[in-house]
Amino acid sequence: METQVKLTTLTIPGNLFLAPIAGFTDRAFRSICIRYGADFTFTEMVSAEGIVRNNPKTLMLLRRADNEKLLGIQIFSSSAKTAGESVKKVMDFKPDLIDLNCGCPVSKIVRTGSGAALLLEPAKIKEIVKAIKVETDRPVSVKIRSGWDSEHINYLETAKMAVEGGAEMITLHPRTRSQGYSGRANWEHLKELKKNLPVPVIGSGDLFTTEDAIRMFEETDCNGIMFARGAIGNPPVFRQTKRLLQRGTASFPKNNTEDCRSFLKEKLEIARYHLNLSIKYRGASLAVKEMKKHICAYTKGLPNSSNLRAKIAKADSVETLNQILRDYYSTI
Ligand SMILES: Cc1cc2nc3c(=O)[nH]c(=O)nc-3n(C[C@H](O)[C@H](O)[C@H](O)COP(=O)(O)O)c2cc1C
Repeated sequence: METQVKLTTLTIPGNLFLAPIAGFTDRAFRSICIRYGADFTFTEMVSAEGIVRNNPKTLMLLRRADNEKLLGIQIFSSSAKTAGESVKKVMDFKPDLIDLNCGCPVSKIVRTGSGAALLLEPAKIKEIVKAIKVETDRPVSVKIRSGWDSEHINYLETAKMAVEGGAEMITLHPRTRSQGYSGRANWEHLKELKKNLPVPVIGSGDLFTTEDAIRMFEETDCNGIMFARGAIGNPPVFRQTKRLLQRGTASFPKNNTEDCRSFLKEKLEIARYHLNLSIKYRGASLAVKEMKKHICAYTKGLPNSSNLRAKIAKADSVETLNQILRDYYSTI
């Protein structure tokens, strides 16, 4: 199976992607996923308008992690003009790829005509991609959903418009806007898109385990898969998937108590490492705020973890968070 994903001026060395996830895929988290084998990572969606206005918080989102050899910057915009202007500035951050968000279902975004609202205007997607391409020599990709709702399934049309505009890769999250993140992702749509599109197709949706990822490759023939919620609290999912793809064996045998225990310990070690990286990139006080949700995710399902999470929620300093993790680690 071909594992590289080839675009005109960019070869992505493998087929495991980390999704753009607002509020989660910052530099620290991306850096950890790369250590565990993610082949390509994206920033969270970044406002084109915020970039044009030089909003410092927005510009922070565009920065690369130290070990991030390849980076996709995802923007959202409802205007071709603003998208183009923003990409002119984005180029200062030397992205390897620019991605256009056409899938965000959140009302605040959709109301402005961006995110999933663009699915209602496929011609506009083409216009925005063209405007981006005027400003960059980097490849452009587009991330779409299946359609607005079950009455308006138009992923083939939106993807084709994007490609006509010059997009070189399409990611499909095969849910509709009205589904949000609930219900099942319809992988049949991925299979259909892959059959009909001349550019690489990346699959997103309901990838929570290594087995899900393998199944998506097999069932849809997509060129790459993109972990999203499945990577939160579990970056080793990239390593396990890579091993399974390369050697046909998963690294984490089931029903083996010792292996289970060392896997749980590893997750706690990742949580501590993640906290340190977050401090490095964002400073202590923001790190405490940001890391609570990640630590809750790392400890989800671990013994006695609801008690642990209650303590984490109350923590107000890096020292307290570290102490809580150390104490818990010693009980496993
Ligand atoms: C909290 C959250 C934030 C997200 N933020 C983004 C985003 O910034 N850009 C984007 O294209 N998709 C975003 N997504 C969608 C994911 O990238 C992915 O397509 C979706 O979660 C489906 O994959 P999953 O079912 O495996 O989680 C987000 C999803 C979640 C749950």
